[in-house]
Amino acid sequence: MSVINTDVEVTSNEQVAEETFALRFHSPSLAGQLLPGQFINIRVSDAVEPLLRRPYSISSVHGEECEILFSLLGKGTHILATKRAGDRIGILGPLGNTFGYEKDFGTAVIVAGGIGVAPFPHLTRVLQQRAIPVLTFLGARNANRVVTRGLANVHVATDDGSEGFHGTVIQALAAYLDSHEVDRPRLFACGPNAMLKATQAFAHERGFACELSLESEMACGIGICQGCPIERTEGERKYALVCTEGPCFDSHEIIFHEHHHA
Ligand SMILES: Cc1cc2nc3c(=O)[nH]c(=O)nc-3n(C[C@H](O)[C@H](O)[C@H](O)COP(=O)(O)OP(=O)(O)OC[C@H]3O[C@@H](n4cnc5c(N)ncnc54)[C@H](O)[C@@H]3O)c2cc1C
Ligand code: FES
Repeated sequence: MSVINTDVEVTSNEQVAEETFALRFHSPSLAGQLLPGQFINIRVSDAVEPLLRRPYSISSVHGEECEILFSLLGKGTHILATKRAGDRIGILGPLGNTFGYEKDFGTAVIVAGGIGVAPFPHLTRVLQQRAIPVLTFLGARNANRVVTRGLANVHVATDDGSEGFHGTVIQALAAYLDSHEVDRPRLFACGPNAMLKATQAFAHERGFACELSLESEMACGIGICQGCPIERTEGERKYALVCTEGPCFDSHEIIFHEHHHA
């Protein structure tokens, strides 16, 4: 695997849900090597101040093109939303580790909260190529923010009940598991820290294998700035770096604290 640091051409950028965009760019070398769970750092602007590099999961691969999904938050995502076909952005990647899709399990249970859905279309495709059954639980604020493209067997939960289950994605998952047999599940979760923490507690209570992909803030993306620590449960070092040792962690490996972004 070789990390690419180059400018690429945006091929499309469309709004797919409320405050949510799907941006595609042309990069055969990234498309050809990207594994599920990995991310890229995007330089969204040439302006020096502030240095706008932001991490995004690769959501899906289409031939020589890669797609990211993002929702509007601050400066970086507002600039990204203005990009049009033909514009150029700087990418650095692939970065980070991958989901444990090669481990031994019966059913992949995807648990996504909000824009945490981003890495899962690519994971779903790779699982389906291996004929592994996939169940997807997708939590969103409301029906306008639900993005199901590229997913399989989707069960939606919304905070306001405007679509699917009325409640959290974990409540929806618990209700499903109480009434269905699922063969040797392995949970793959991504979303806000509060949701990951709830997923972790749920998985441990039920004795399920579980991994969590973190979307915490980061800067350099390559292990230099030390700006992305997450506390480890054990080991010689108290902290792991999300950018190089993650973003995917076994649920037994890490501890969430309230002061992390929810
Ligand atoms: C490995 C990884 C993969 C990611 N993948 C995606 C993705 O596929 N799609 C996507 O939309 N986002 C993803 N993110 C989060 C994304 O990087 C942030 O949304 C982005 O940096 C926001 O930039 P901004 O300039 O718009 O907001 P900023 O101006 O940087 O931030 C605006 C406000 O939001 C807060 N904030 C910034 N980043 C985060 C964060 N990660 N969590 C909580 N609060 C934050 C800031 O403190 C500030 O208050 C990922 C993050 C990581 C670490
Ligand atoms: S973001 Fe710089 S060390 Fe992780």
